[in-house]
Amino acid sequence: MRNLIDILDLSVEELDELMATASDIIEHPARYSEACRGKKLATLFFEPSTRTRLSFEAAMYELGGNVLSMASANSSSAAKGESVADTAKTVSCYADVIAMRHPKEGAPLVASLNVSIPVINAGDGGHNHPTQTLADLFTIKREKGEIRDLTVGFCGDLKFGRTVHSLISALARYTGIKIVLISPVELTVPSYIMTDVLEKNNIPYEQTTDLLSVMPKLDILYMTRVQKERFFNEEDYLRLKDSYILTPDKLKTAKKDLSILHPLPRVNEIAVAIDDDPRACYFKQVLNAKYMRMALILKLLEVKV
Ligand code: CP
Repeated sequence: MRNLIDILDLSVEELDELMATASDIIEHPARYSEACRGKKLATLFFEPSTRTRLSFEAAMYELGGNVLSMASANSSSAAKGESVADTAKTVSCYADVIAMRHPKEGAPLVASLNVSIPVINAGDGGHNHPTQTLADLFTIKREKGEIRDLTVGFCGDLKFGRTVHSLISALARYTGIKIVLISPVELTVPSYIMTDVLEKNNIPYEQTTDLLSVMPKLDILYMTRVQKERFFNEEDYLRLKDSYILTPDKLKTAKKDLSILHPLPRVNEIAVAIDDDPRACYFKQVLNAKYMRMALILKLLEVKV
């Protein structure tokens, strides 16, 4: 029985396998439409979500399965003080797989240690978001052909942005990847990302506060929202929230084949005018996420098609 708590729970070969399955689902959706008949996915979201929760639910429905979902965290018995472990044990009596989002780092891991069905981390605090990474990798592969020999810029809130942490960990296993970290000094990546991920894997990286100075070298620009919900002090949030606003003007020196990614939701960091630029990939990412989540559900439920 497998879980997905951290993106490193999957080998590079398994990531390739998931991307191949996702591509096959895109080409032959009918083959998969009954694959999870009789199976149930429980979505336990203790934090707001649009894409992750709905794409997991759409993924399960498109595989012919069913979904159990709480209306909100406040409507579950967690609001009465029930522990993550007891909630997970209870839900495992009803469902075959759990996707959990929680504000506390490590909550999906705790759930996984208490049940005998697969648990998927759908985002834990400012820590990790491995299924967003599945969408990001698949998008990079579809846009660039291969995940190799790419200069990838991460811009915005690199401290609290859990999608950034998971994607850097994943990219560190590919060949020829260079990382450019673009953030205000208050929002740089946690030091463990630099020491235990980038330096340990000999990944060349640089840090800057200046997006324009590095724009010409980027193959991928991964924009992120400043994570308001992780700030202790609203003044700091207000000061930092508009540190980077990508506008058409700022793309003048960018490569013609730059791919602009963003895990979404977007607040103010990418001007809507960029949505029509062929380099904007963030709504493709949304769709790619559904196919990768379908592939992941099949893998964790050990369903062969
Ligand atoms: N990318 C992402 O996690 O979006 P949601 O918060 O809407 O699920």
